Amino acid sequence: MHALSQKIGSLQGSEIIRLAGEINQLIQSGKKIYNLTIGDFNPTLFPIPLAFEELIIEAYQQKQTNYPPADGTAEVKSAVLQFLATHEQLEYQSNEILIAGGGRPLIYAAYQSVLNPNDKVLYSVPSWNNNHYAHLSDSQKIEIETTAEDGFMPTAHSLEPYIKEARLLALCSPLNPTGTMFSKQALSDICTLVIAENERRKSIDQPLLYVIYDQIYWLINGEHNPHYNPVSISPEMKPYTLFIDGISKAFAATGVRVGWAFGPSEIINGMKSLLGHIGAWAPKPEQMATAKYLRHDKQVWTDIAALKKNLALRLNNLYSGFEGMRMDGLPVYCIAPQGAIYLSVQFSILGKTTPQGQLIKTTEDITAYLLHQAGIAVVPFTAFGCKPGTDWYRISIGTLHEQEIPLVLQQIKHALSALTE
Ligand SMILES: Cc1ncc(COP(=O)(O)O)c(C=O)c1O
Repeated sequence: MHALSQKIGSLQGSEIIRLAGEINQLIQSGKKIYNLTIGDFNPTLFPIPLAFEELIIEAYQQKQTNYPPADGTAEVKSAVLQFLATHEQLEYQSNEILIAGGGRPLIYAAYQSVLNPNDKVLYSVPSWNNNHYAHLSDSQKIEIETTAEDGFMPTAHSLEPYIKEARLLALCSPLNPTGTMFSKQALSDICTLVIAENERRKSIDQPLLYVIYDQIYWLINGEHNPHYNPVSISPEMKPYTLFIDGISKAFAATGVRVGWAFGPSEIINGMKSLLGHIGAWAPKPEQMATAKYLRHDKQVWTDIAALKKNLALRLNNLYSGFEGMRMDGLPVYCIAPQGAIYLSVQFSILGKTTPQGQLIKTTEDITAYLLHQAGIAVVPFTAFGCKPGTDWYRISIGTLHEQEIPLVLQQIKHALSALTE
């Protein structure tokens, strides 16, 4: 009884993990399920780049297996800084970057380093895990629900009423779970808002508003969807922006665990102290390999192009399939893919009746219908903070075989066609 602290005892479980239990039960009972819930890559379909794999092995052979420096090896820091300067025109110094075991510890450390208990963190929903990081930092969350019309991205207009209260604003592009991205104008408007707010705070000597800019998917953007960041848009954003980035998505290397944060040195230093105690460093051999790999510019871009081609094939084919269904009058709507490994799809089937005579009344009913009737597992936006009753879903394509795409579409089409008013 009461073994756990209040904070940990009240940590919310992940809805995706709960769904995974149900999916596994169905699979074990012999049912074929297309599991599109996992925000990860199947390494058979999406292996890490071969050149990178060889460098990891080489680093182990060279016995690079002791503690790395607390903020990352000099080699990896300098390679990442060079990469950012060359490809994102972002100029940072070695005291403004921190390497850790992926993006997660860095986001956790950023929340812990900026927020005092009861400070407010502002973010939009649907979004990934901000609620958990807010809980763990004892902060208060201000969640604003975005709209499909805005591609589920927050706008300056929607943030403006809350900006004065917030100590931290968490932004992400390309966004998990939607696969959508900021346009230059939308991000620029948010920057203008943050800069004006910080001018106001400076004039009354109030703590500044910081922005976490999670761009972990930026290298796997769509062909016609350029990635923008606050600091390139408005250099005045530099003192307020903390970037989260890493290899997990760009190189399909989610299990390799190398991430980086860069931004104001004071915050980076605080995060370094915290993560040093946790020991959440990236493994040293992987750091050494990342450093060498990132220096092979041509190879890196060839590998990213190959990954993007594989992702686009899946995203675009699914999107076209959903568009076809919509044009046939079926109750489904898909936002054109922009980046990352996700599609936002709306199944407008609340109020319809299943072939078994059941009325679909809730988000859970939609999820269950798609799972049992179509054999498709997808994650409702309620798992990403949206209110109950949403009919929007995340489809993740990182584990989807190319040959399965027509089958997935066909099964969804049959299930939607079988519904009655
Ligand atoms: C938006 C976003 N940021 C950060 C992460 C964390 O990445 P990592 O695996 O490097 O911890 C994820 C992982 O799913 C993500 O979706």
